[in-house]
Amino acid sequence: MKILAIISSPRKKNTYNAIKTIESIHKEKNDCEYEYLFLKNIDLKCCNGCHLCLTKGEEKCPLKDDRDTIINKIESSDGVILASPNHSMNVNWRMKNFIDRFSYLLHRPRYFHQRFMVLITSGSYRGIKEATNALAIMASGGKVISKIGVMNSPGMNDTKKNKQSKKLRREAKKFVKKMKKPFNFKPTFGYLVWFSAFKAMSQVNENESIADHEYYSNKDFFIEMNLKLGQKFVLKTFQAIFRGLLKIGLV
Ligand SMILES: Cc1cc2nc3c(=O)[nH]c(=O)nc-3n(C[C@H](O)[C@H](O)[C@H](O)COP(=O)(O)O)c2cc1C
Repeated sequence: MKILAIISSPRKKNTYNAIKTIESIHKEKNDCEYEYLFLKNIDLKCCNGCHLCLTKGEEKCPLKDDRDTIINKIESSDGVILASPNHSMNVNWRMKNFIDRFSYLLHRPRYFHQRFMVLITSGSYRGIKEATNALAIMASGGKVISKIGVMNSPGMNDTKKNKQSKKLRREAKKFVKKMKKPFNFKPTFGYLVWFSAFKAMSQVNENESIADHEYYSNKDFFIEMNLKLGQKFVLKTFQAIFRGLLKIGLV
């Protein structure tokens, strides 16, 4: 089993140590391989907000760097740990740039074979929820099987430190247990509704959503997911209603 840890902290401290703990728990009884990808060490230029990846396709991005290497690494892993320190009650800037550079995945999901852990280290509890939620969307078509916020405030007493360390060990074991189970992606209904909305939008705004339109007309991922007839019917009906509302400008 191959795990890729994507770390946005500029230093090898709390976030890195938390992943090292997860790795050692994972390796206690399992044959697994960990690869560490430090965002500060790779060439991932800052998103300039041109929208080309969203509208015309990710291959039209004017920034030439290691973006696609990251995608390849994610797709050749079984599990991915996305880890960031909490900076000003959210992910840090390197992770936010990572999110923006891959924001087209919110329109056109990928990673159907990967499971994700989302990890935030923080000085306090404030902002952990916001940061984990911001990061979880990066799983795209994959499944988030674990979310955790770990506090490392320098002022914490030993009891509190122990509590955090136990929490991390517990979550790491949960992650390992889930990773050991065979994985069959079963989308939630909310997930399907979310992407049928994108599909409907790409049908109505074909000229502005070229990449989405191509994605949803060439490859029907709802079919790839082996949906039941009932589910397909509900989604098709939702799409038709949503398309209608879009056409009359009500959405
Ligand atoms: C610029 C900056 C902003 C931070 N903002 C917060 C914050 O809003 N809330 C919080 O609880 N901790 C905050 N922290 C503390 C870090 O989240 C915490 O120490 C984290 O574990 C650091 O991880 P690292 O050792 O991997 O860099 C901040 C730290 C820095 C450097």
